[in-house]
Order: sequence, then structure tokens, then C-alpha cells
Amino acid sequence: MNILGIDIGGSAIKAAPVNTVNGTLAAEKIRIATPQPATPLAIAEIIAEITENFNWTGAIGCGLPAVIRDGIACTAANIDAEWIGIDVVELLSTRTGLETTVMNDADSAGLAEMHYGAGTKASGTTIVVTAGTGLGTALFRDNILIPNTELGHLQLHGKNAEQIASAAVRTKLNLSYSEWAKRFDDYLHRLEELFWPDLFIIGGGISKAHAQFFPHLTIQTKILPARLRNDAGIIGAAAAVLR
Ligand code: BGC
Repeated sequence: MNILGIDIGGSAIKAAPVNTVNGTLAAEKIRIATPQPATPLAIAEIIAEITENFNWTGAIGCGLPAVIRDGIACTAANIDAEWIGIDVVELLSTRTGLETTVMNDADSAGLAEMHYGAGTKASGTTIVVTAGTGLGTALFRDNILIPNTELGHLQLHGKNAEQIASAAVRTKLNLSYSEWAKRFDDYLHRLEELFWPDLFIIGGGISKAHAQFFPHLTIQTKILPARLRNDAGIIGAAAAVLR
């Protein structure tokens, strides 16, 4: 069954029909820069354009960088604060006329990795970390998602970890991979001492450069790059419809 997966990020909105049987993209993805300010109406408009672009009449699944409880956004870290309190399912299903599922973007990327990617054989505790504009996390116990963990906002050296170790910080401060790895390593150590995971899976745009920073990491936990790389958000958003 194909579902249109839409990954709404702080910098870009990416979408493609996803074959949910094997977790692959069923058509070439499209990428649109996230409108600024990233308000609910501006983003709903783009999502409607995307569904029209694909002539989509089936279900859609969306990942949003926000805590999502019962379809309602409860936070808004890298999108406009107007999202807080919005019933995202209602907004997007009304605007598109399509059956809509919404979940946190890191949770959807994590779901994709656990179902179709690097975590298919994982048992115990797995933390998927997506490093992009923000720092997202998805926590799994034996493949069961514990949603909305928001561990990217843990305190690290007295600051919000996302402001120290996201991929966007690397770009902004022009850090080399080894310089950034030191920060990311500190962050993973923090997760390690709090959760004692059995596996870390690292996703987000930076995961394609894993060979450049994994060798600098000193954590004890097994670590794998996301296999679905930057498509995990799209694939997981679609797969969330089937949960
Ligand atoms: C948000 C999370 C999101 C992460 C990755 C963070 O700033 O708080 O909800 O999953 O960025 O986009």
C-alpha cells in the first residue's frame, strides 16, 4: 500500500509516495524550502500543493518537529510558535481533504529505521538521534516507540544540547567534522549515562558523512548510521499511518 510521506523540517519539507510494504520511495521525492515564518497556514498551503502535485487521493502521513499528542502540537522548536495548541490532524485533513496522520519527525524517522532500516534486528533499548536543523530523538524498547522524548533539549554544559550539537550548529560555526564530533560525543555520553541504551542509530542529513565523525566518538554503546539516511523521515511518516 502506498502512502504519501511528508517530512516537515525546520529547513525543508520533503515528500514522496512510500511503499509501506518494503519501506522504499515509490516515486522521486520533492523538496521545498520551509516557508519563513513556518506558520501552520503557510505549511498547510505547501502540503496541499504537494498532494496536488502528486495527484494524491489516498492517506498522508506527516512528521513535524513538535511534540504531538492526540494530533495536537504541544511545542514548536524550529517552526513558528503559532503551532502550539494547533490540532495538526484537523488542519491538514481539512486543507487537503485527505486522511491524515501526524507524529513527531524524529519519532517517524526512528520508526522507519526500526521497521525497514538499521534497527530491524535491534532488541533492548535503542535511541535514534536525528541531527539536522534541530536535534531529535526517538526512544524504542524492543521495537516499541516511547513517543515525544525531546532529548535534544537536555542540558549539556549548561545549555540546550541542540544549541551545542545539532548539525546546523556545525554549519553555522563552520566546524570540521572532528570538532563537531567532540560536541556530539559529549551529547551521546549524556544519553548513555541516563539511558544505558543497547544501540544508537544516527540519522538526519549528517548521517551520510558518518565515516567522517564516527571514528572520533568515544561512547561504549554500539552505534550505527541510519540506513535510510535523510529519507527516513518521509518513510516513517508514511509508515506511521499503519501503526
Ligand atoms: C524539536 C523536536 C524535533 C527535533 C528534530 C527539535 O528542536 O524539539 O520535536 O524532533 O528538533 O527536528
